[in-house]
Amino acid sequence: MSSQGPRVVLLGKQGAGKGTQASRVAEHYAIAHLATGDVFRAAARDETPLGLQAKEYIDRGELVPDPIVIGVVREHLEDNDRQLVEAGFILDGFPRTQVQAVELDVVLEGDALDVIVNLDVPTEVVLARIAGRRVCVQCGTNYHVDSPPTEPWWCDKCGGHVVQRDDDREDAVMRRLELYEIQTLPVIQYYRRTGRLVNVPGQGDSNDVFAAVVAAIDARWELRR
Ligand code: AP5
Repeated sequence: MSSQGPRVVLLGKQGAGKGTQASRVAEHYAIAHLATGDVFRAAARDETPLGLQAKEYIDRGELVPDPIVIGVVREHLEDNDRQLVEAGFILDGFPRTQVQAVELDVVLEGDALDVIVNLDVPTEVVLARIAGRRVCVQCGTNYHVDSPPTEPWWCDKCGGHVVQRDDDREDAVMRRLELYEIQTLPVIQYYRRTGRLVNVPGQGDSNDVFAAVVAAIDARWELRR
């Protein structure tokens, strides 16, 4: 199966900047951005059965169980949106367990992802970022206490209320980082063994990080074209 745009997985610990970079990458290549965290938050906002179920896990800093997450990704990549796979995509926040990584290979019918980018940021930096993060409840735009919206705390883009995420409380953050070590580091090792993993330092100016991410994607995607 060939694709018009790159097929990318973006990994990184909580607060590494996955959401920030994935949105820009999606725009740059005109590809779809599938963020499982965003899917769950939107479903929770709409109080759908999926959203209410996922929220119970998310607010405690736990991972949503694999069968639920895999169901959501299958729905996007397989059932509804085969065109999405063909056009290229960036996955943000999936896979984050080994079961999910293996399942992704099945969904893509064994066809290789172009590149897996691991945004590498030290834990003390992500802790500082998450402590100050504020998010629009309507459109998900990120702010920080040091760079608030023009009218605090109402979103510049859509006028929605800008608040702290429930899972950005200290106890939930510590649990999320613990689960990253236990469940997601093995996924990084899994992809490293395939030779398609690229480590990109995620600290410093966001524009510089973006340039490094695009360079990593271009280098690998070029090989497929
Ligand atoms: P999800 O929404 O994916 O959360 P996460 O992985 O914890 O990631 P974050 O959103 O905290 O951070 P990010 O890396 O996107 O960083 P961001 O760009 O916001 O998942 C939430 C929950 O859903 C999970 O805990 C789990 O329960 C569930 N879930 C989702 N997917 C799942 C799956 N596959 N399996 C099981 N459960 C799943 O940036 C962070 C902050 O830093 C922002 O304020 C940003 O403005 C700032 N920032 C970004 N880049 C820079 C920079 N270069 N310099 C300075 N500041 C920066």
